[in-house]
Amino acid sequence: MISTRELTKDFVVSRTETVHAVRGISMDVEPGELVAVLGPNGAGKTTTLRMLTTLIGPTSGTAKVAGYDVAAEPGQVRRQIGYVGQGNGAGHSQRVSDELYGQGVIYGLDRRAARQRAEELLESLELKDLARRKVSELSGGQRRRLDVAMGLVHAPGLLFLDEPSTGLDPQNRANLWDHILRMREQYSMTIVLTTHYLDEADSMAERVVVVDHGEVIADDTADALKAKLAGDLLQLTVAPGNLQELARLADKLPGAKDLVAEGDRVTVCVVDGPAALPELITAAQHAGVPVATAQVHRPTLDDVFLNLTGRSLREADSTGKAAA
Ligand SMILES: Nc1ncnc2c1ncn2[C@@H]1O[C@H](COP(=O)(O)OP(=O)(O)O)[C@@H](O)[C@H]1O
Ligand SMILES: [Mg+2]
Repeated sequence: MISTRELTKDFVVSRTETVHAVRGISMDVEPGELVAVLGPNGAGKTTTLRMLTTLIGPTSGTAKVAGYDVAAEPGQVRRQIGYVGQGNGAGHSQRVSDELYGQGVIYGLDRRAARQRAEELLESLELKDLARRKVSELSGGQRRRLDVAMGLVHAPGLLFLDEPSTGLDPQNRANLWDHILRMREQYSMTIVLTTHYLDEADSMAERVVVVDHGEVIADDTADALKAKLAGDLLQLTVAPGNLQELARLADKLPGAKDLVAEGDRVTVCVVDGPAALPELITAAQHAGVPVATAQVHRPTLDDVFLNLTGRSLREADSTGKAAA
């Protein structure tokens, strides 16, 4: 559905300053996938999406979207995709239903089809009761649902969402996600979205492409990234005098690394924590080592990012500006 090779975008800001916003991104998206592009502010997420949606041309490299080249066949690309941009301008006085209907007409639907499609989307995005409201009167969450509806009027097979849930409170985020996932089922769409919410990328996306400073630094399922790049952490405490014996047993676990034995505590990084922990406890029992407490910490995507970049995604900001 998407295939980019060495996609690059430089912005020439002045004679002396060029921003290398995207530095050679290569990625593939299969039909039906839901892929999250995760990265801090300024990482190049929006710039990448704007190239894939033909809003700006790449400086170099290639991108094929829905079978068409973004540079050579932008019109064809646009017909296949929906795009919901990051944030919105000021609200305006159009009514919700008119806004959707107008969008349908712009996309070339005849009046009847546009009206029918607007009805359908109002229904499925739970905007029906708000159809007569002015767009400017909607709440943030309602407005974002309308944005998603706008991206769907022409029934695209591929939907791009740029930070769909940024700025929404947790309840509205969850609600928007419900709708996105339902839309995906209903219209069997491929979805590429950007986010800087770790938990969101983790729980919603099947695949996470982590970008930083305009480059892809990791690309896999969230689980695989965590297993490969961070691993599960076992943490056990023992009665005095047993520390070294437990450490010796812990070190023998499959994939054991980064073992630390200090005070009454042993911590060790393993590939599969929930499987390794009972194994270790059984081994300790056989060896007559009394384990006092035991815990498994499963890593987060933030641990993955930290491992890759040496800094936390929560604080990271590729532009050096304060996080928005
Ligand atoms: N039109 C532009 N002109 C100059 N610099 C830009 C422009 N658009 C984006 N940038 C810069 O490119 C980098 C990547 O920006 P962006 O793609 O918006 O990141 P993200 O969406 O991941 O926050 C940032 O340093 C940003 O300031
Ligand atoms: Mg952005």
